[in-house]
Amino acid sequence: MGQHNLFVANWKMYFSYQQAQLWIQKNQVSLRKMTDNSHKTIILCPSFETIATAQSLLNHDGIRIGAQDCSAFLPGAYTGQVSAQSLAEIGCSYCIIGHSERLQYGAETASDTRSKLERLIEVSIIPILCIGETKEEYQKGYSLSSLEQQTTALLKDLKKQPAKLIIAYEPRWAIGSNTIPKEDELIAAQDILLSLSKKLLPEASISLIYGGSVDVNTTQTIKKMNLFNGFLIGRASLDFQSLQNIVL
Ligand code: PGA
Repeated sequence: MGQHNLFVANWKMYFSYQQAQLWIQKNQVSLRKMTDNSHKTIILCPSFETIATAQSLLNHDGIRIGAQDCSAFLPGAYTGQVSAQSLAEIGCSYCIIGHSERLQYGAETASDTRSKLERLIEVSIIPILCIGETKEEYQKGYSLSSLEQQTTALLKDLKKQPAKLIIAYEPRWAIGSNTIPKEDELIAAQDILLSLSKKLLPEASISLIYGGSVDVNTTQTIKKMNLFNGFLIGRASLDFQSLQNIVL
């Protein structure tokens, strides 16, 4: 797939508001330099409360701010939820949806993720849609059929096609595990996710990134394999030096 130019930093709930602000203040100049004169885009996804601050401090061509989730609903009586419309208004241009930690701890279903996708498309936020097989599916050899089933359930017959979509292939068993799939497994996953999503969304520009135990070593390995367009980086994105080594 050639170029690796999309780097999504998923900060999860690691930082408090103050810690996130300090990180951004300390690293904002270096972060801007990282993307200068390159075609690389860093998409920083902090917790909701930090989004507006991050947006105002990091206003730069190669840096975009994203959210880690959004509500599946249109504005209304949904206590504790954040609408896609609000995210767009505070300057979010990307939003992660369907992350395995949302499915695990937020009791989110595939149908919720699909509604979130529709909400994001309505307000022109670029979705970063996570798709990946479970450990059990992987061990039983059902990885590809699981990816096929999830992709179809999420993307078939959408009311409106997105102009752009990022699919993050995140094998659920690889997240936080320090292991990644083998090369032939990554090639097969890339092929099925790309061919099926392009068939289901012929009008969309689709990028595919890899996530799950992303660090300096695993990114070097995947870059050498020439697979994917970039990475969704969890824990390693909290350390500025690691992030820089992954991006450059
Ligand atoms: P990890 O997280 O890189 O810390 O494994 C990735 C993710 O959850 O998206």
